[in-house]
Amino acid sequence: MAVHWTREQRYRRLDTVDPKEYDELVEHVANAPWRQKYHVQPLAGLLNDPNGFSWFNGQYHLFYQWFPLGPAHGLKYWYHTVSDDLVTFENKGIALSPDTAYDSHGVYSGSALQAGDDLMLFYTGNTRDDKWLRTPYQCMAQMNKDGEFSKWELPVITGVPEGYTQELRDPKLWNENGTYYCVIGAQRDNMTGAALLYRSADLHAWEFIGEVQTDHTDFGYMWECPDLFTVDGTDILVFSPLGLKPEGLSRSNLFHAGYLSGTFDVDTGAFNHEPFQELDYGFDFYAPQTMEGPDGERILIAWMAIPQLPYPTDKDGWANCMTLPRVLTVEDGQLKQRLPKSWDKPEEDASHWQGEIGRQPELLPFGGDCYELQAKLSDVTAREMHIDLRVREMEYSRITYNSETQTLVFDRMHSGEPVNASEGHTRTVTLSRPLERLRILVDISSVEIFVNDGDTVMTSRIFPGEDSTGIRIQAAEGTAELEFHHWPLDGIAFKEERVLDKEPKTT
Ligand code: FRU
Repeated sequence: MAVHWTREQRYRRLDTVDPKEYDELVEHVANAPWRQKYHVQPLAGLLNDPNGFSWFNGQYHLFYQWFPLGPAHGLKYWYHTVSDDLVTFENKGIALSPDTAYDSHGVYSGSALQAGDDLMLFYTGNTRDDKWLRTPYQCMAQMNKDGEFSKWELPVITGVPEGYTQELRDPKLWNENGTYYCVIGAQRDNMTGAALLYRSADLHAWEFIGEVQTDHTDFGYMWECPDLFTVDGTDILVFSPLGLKPEGLSRSNLFHAGYLSGTFDVDTGAFNHEPFQELDYGFDFYAPQTMEGPDGERILIAWMAIPQLPYPTDKDGWANCMTLPRVLTVEDGQLKQRLPKSWDKPEEDASHWQGEIGRQPELLPFGGDCYELQAKLSDVTAREMHIDLRVREMEYSRITYNSETQTLVFDRMHSGEPVNASEGHTRTVTLSRPLERLRILVDISSVEIFVNDGDTVMTSRIFPGEDSTGIRIQAAEGTAELEFHHWPLDGIAFKEERVLDKEPKTT
């Protein structure tokens, strides 16, 4: 598991390793349990943040942080995938390797934006000295239409501004009225987190404007992966603050990802905003990044894990996957997150079940380990209602709706192989209106629950047995009318043929 990896093991570059070692790992991982069917996942090793999520040359491009050699946060690469529809992704190989003096200890997170004919990749080069002290560089690379990558020779931002520590990383780039801007995650000298704002006319020379000025002058010890954009006239700052404490039913995870919404002044950095809100209420969601789609829509994707936590797949040499992409809108002042339209499926392809449920548990006539399930709820007199997924004997992953408290709970206590039990077994979200609809996406080892047409989302990994495939429903203290549509999703396999741009070679 991650914690047992020595520094030497974690900082081996792929091209210095015997190719047999990597081949064997890839082969082992391909046959390991809990491999997802339609989520982006690594061929081997550890995947973390989405990077460079963008639309370029007629396709979606999604890169991710990758350590190829095991389930540890080691030497990071950018791995490249593409998609025509945000449903099926295809592996393209390594995009950026940690092979220069400015990224010797990791090609860290960053973003992408088309400029001229090329896709510009703006990332943090992580370096460490003999005493293992960090110096970050903000570096630029580009990809042409043939998919060839080249790094710029020198970083475009060197060092950190006065008043901040060396924890400066994850530039998110955008263009507004012909000027380039970026926000970068930072830590103040007093060990509090912030996002810094820069501007540039040409991507080469960057001017530090100042902090994004929020009300949060003491809100966690570091802000990772900031992202600033406008949706339906509302400005939104997404970021992943490290070090927040739990608050009531929210912020129950070890680390958090959320947003501030309001009005942002790009000339001064002033941000007038509503209180911080989490983007997801499940167990496993971090480091989200957004992009602007071809029709101007704002699409978000995130890492389906929490930093520093182990996962049951570690023992097989791989860890983590992406969430599904979500389209963001702001409606009546509320942020909505829905699956892209390409995820819509014809109703006539679905299996259907409708009926009244009460105390007697009912097994639905369909199920599986890889499907979409839509539920419609009406005439609820029941105080509580359960939908159990991945059911077999004592195993199940439970969604509970309480109509009195208007809360939705996801419980993975009985989901199968325990996962981070010390972090608790349930996550709860309070709904802004009674539950009417659920859209549930089940893959081999995950559950994503979209509540009430995008009002809120709960994303979690689960590690059930292969034969845990039932769907069971039940109500307590009353009844409810339920209607289900079910589509198997085995057909949209992630194209994960092994692809590396440079085959590892022994030195
Ligand atoms: C967030 C993060 C980023 C960093 C990257 C390194 O998970 O810590 O801040 O750039 O991961 O992999």
